[in-house]
Amino acid sequence: MSKGKSSKTSGKGQNPLQAPRGTRDFYPEDMRRRNWLFAHFRSTAASFGFEEVDAPMVEHLDLFKRKAGEEIVDQLYHFELHDRHLALRAEMTPSIARMVIARQGAMRFPIRWFTVTQNWRYERMTRGRKREHYQWNMDVWGEPGVEAEAELLAAMFTMFDSLGLDRGKIKVRLNSRGLLEESLREGVLSDRPEVFAPLCVVIDKIDKIGAEAVTEQLCDPEGGVALTALEAARVIEILSARSLDEAAKFAAVGSPAIAELSQLYTLLEAYGIADQVPFDASVVRGLAYYTGIVFEAFDAGATLRAIAGGGRYDRLAETLGGKPVPAVGFGFGDVVIGELLEDEGLWPDLKPEVQDIVYAFGPEQKPAAITVASRLRRAGRRVELCLGKSKLKRVLGDAGKAGTERVYLIGEDERARGVVKIRDLAKKAETEEPIEG
Ligand code: HAM
Repeated sequence: MSKGKSSKTSGKGQNPLQAPRGTRDFYPEDMRRRNWLFAHFRSTAASFGFEEVDAPMVEHLDLFKRKAGEEIVDQLYHFELHDRHLALRAEMTPSIARMVIARQGAMRFPIRWFTVTQNWRYERMTRGRKREHYQWNMDVWGEPGVEAEAELLAAMFTMFDSLGLDRGKIKVRLNSRGLLEESLREGVLSDRPEVFAPLCVVIDKIDKIGAEAVTEQLCDPEGGVALTALEAARVIEILSARSLDEAAKFAAVGSPAIAELSQLYTLLEAYGIADQVPFDASVVRGLAYYTGIVFEAFDAGATLRAIAGGGRYDRLAETLGGKPVPAVGFGFGDVVIGELLEDEGLWPDLKPEVQDIVYAFGPEQKPAAITVASRLRRAGRRVELCLGKSKLKRVLGDAGKAGTERVYLIGEDERARGVVKIRDLAKKAETEEPIEG
């Protein structure tokens, strides 16, 4: 697997015994954490009435290709195979859109779907950014009103709460692309509405490259957006608003975007999360398909990259060839939240989940040990059967550390009497029961 041009040189000077840069192996201790985190993703989504869906990790490249100059398109892992040009998914949203479009006539909207999937982006690596990551997505399709946004933001905070993160530790910065769109509608967008998406993609870089460089790109006559200096200055000015009141000053009287934002904040009050969701006009997001409210979650100290991001994308279905259907959702990565949990000391001490160990002293007692292990497994216990010639001392030592509850011991004496000895590690007590139970 390689990215575009580099395919001819791939393999040179690379050690096949190392995982490709930016990818991760998950050893048992890593999997325990991953499963713990994903269980929170799943239970939070379920508690909001969302259903899980999935799609192939490989799609036709054209599903992901967009022309707005987004980073994500340049970062695709893609390859040709039997005359097909395929790509690993970099995000879940296009696949979800494809699935919705395929059943559009047959579904009752709104639908609430969630996914937990691995995504591939050939990123320049920094802290919190890898070349593969898992993402929890929650999306609502078919609801045009901000009640959907409010539910999604509430789900995000439910997730943060369930991980043990205090409310003060997270901020979700929120804006509406609609505000910007309104302010440019009479000007540049009146004859070139298509420049809005690339314009947002450029603005999204403001934190990284600064206002001057953004202005330069916006005004570049070759750059696809080609604003006048006045229009660009207006855009930069609008981005500086840090409250709804400030934003309202830039908006037209009776602005629908401001009305929508106010309605959303009323709902967020009811969920008790409005204080954690500051308005910030500089948040526009780097993906072209967003059309309305957009938001990004950060650690309150803003020391890490975005934990999650999302927004409304009411025109994606149409853009991909389906019938129009409004949609809104978010993606929540596993990497940055993992770092935050580490920084905050919030990862629990997760042990292997073996409850019982069955140990035979010699080969003659192995059949009896198998009988005991099978019986316990049928009863729903998680049972490790000792293999080969394990040393009892080591087995007991490991069991103590791993949090195993009981060790079942069968020596010749027990076998002859048809019993198994049970050592309860917590109570430090020994009992016996028949081998057959
Ligand atoms: P995104 O902002 O590109 O949005 O990604 C969402 C989250 O995924 C980010 O906030 C970050 O936590 C994580 N993430 C993204 N790229 C990486 C990376 N290279 N390494 C580690 N973590 C990463 C989307 O993907 C949208 N499709 C989300 C969405 C769903 N919007 C509507 N519905």
